[in-house]
Amino acid sequence: MTASPHAAPVKTCAELQQAPVEYRHAVEKIVISHAINELHGAQVFDEPAIKLAPTPYAKWLTCRVAMEEYGHHVRFRELGEELGIPAERMIPGKTDKKALSIFDFPLQTWTEFCVIKLLADLGEILQVEDLAQCSFLPLRNLSRMTMPEERFHAEFGREFCTELCQTEQGRQAVQDAVNRYFPMLPGFFGKARSKNNETFRKWGIKQRTEAMLEDFLVRAKAVCDELGLTLPDVSKAA
Ligand SMILES: [Fe+2]
Ligand SMILES: [Fe+2]
Repeated sequence: MTASPHAAPVKTCAELQQAPVEYRHAVEKIVISHAINELHGAQVFDEPAIKLAPTPYAKWLTCRVAMEEYGHHVRFRELGEELGIPAERMIPGKTDKKALSIFDFPLQTWTEFCVIKLLADLGEILQVEDLAQCSFLPLRNLSRMTMPEERFHAEFGREFCTELCQTEQGRQAVQDAVNRYFPMLPGFFGKARSKNNETFRKWGIKQRTEAMLEDFLVRAKAVCDELGLTLPDVSKAA
């Protein structure tokens, strides 16, 4: 917190109104970004995956994942509404703000969905871990509520990928999806030395930005090693 000019945490939405405008806007950016991305992800990945799930058991769990991702949007949006952010600024397609490019992957198979949960939700865990130390306490609280669910999503991905990797053909399909999807994931962590990231760190809204990507690459490699998978080299993609 020493780098933050706003060392004391901001406890409530009412208190935020008294905070410097740069801080307020930065908090709003985070809330809007989560609201947009949770909804967009649920729409393009999780809900369509219910159809792709091969068994009633897999459909049941995928419904739970979709329900929780929509729930994350609802929670961030409710916080945004409390901050006076107009609803349309938190809905993809209704605002100029684009969802993250990690959702541009054209999901077509169950295997691809399992890989997305394995890797993208691991990335989400890192983001939510960081938010758990945010200087704006309502965001810390949201992170504590969503964390067990994001862990479940990544675990869902790990378990189904493990199952798919039982056959050589399945393992190859998982590896192929990893090769195509993984290079999109550095985009989750923002551009190196971006102005936004600088502001987030300055105010203690985010603690780690570039370092988060490095940590993600290490953790993703560990998960893939365990499954006998390799990661494509993305050192130049970030
Ligand atoms: Fe989520
Ligand atoms: Fe998730």
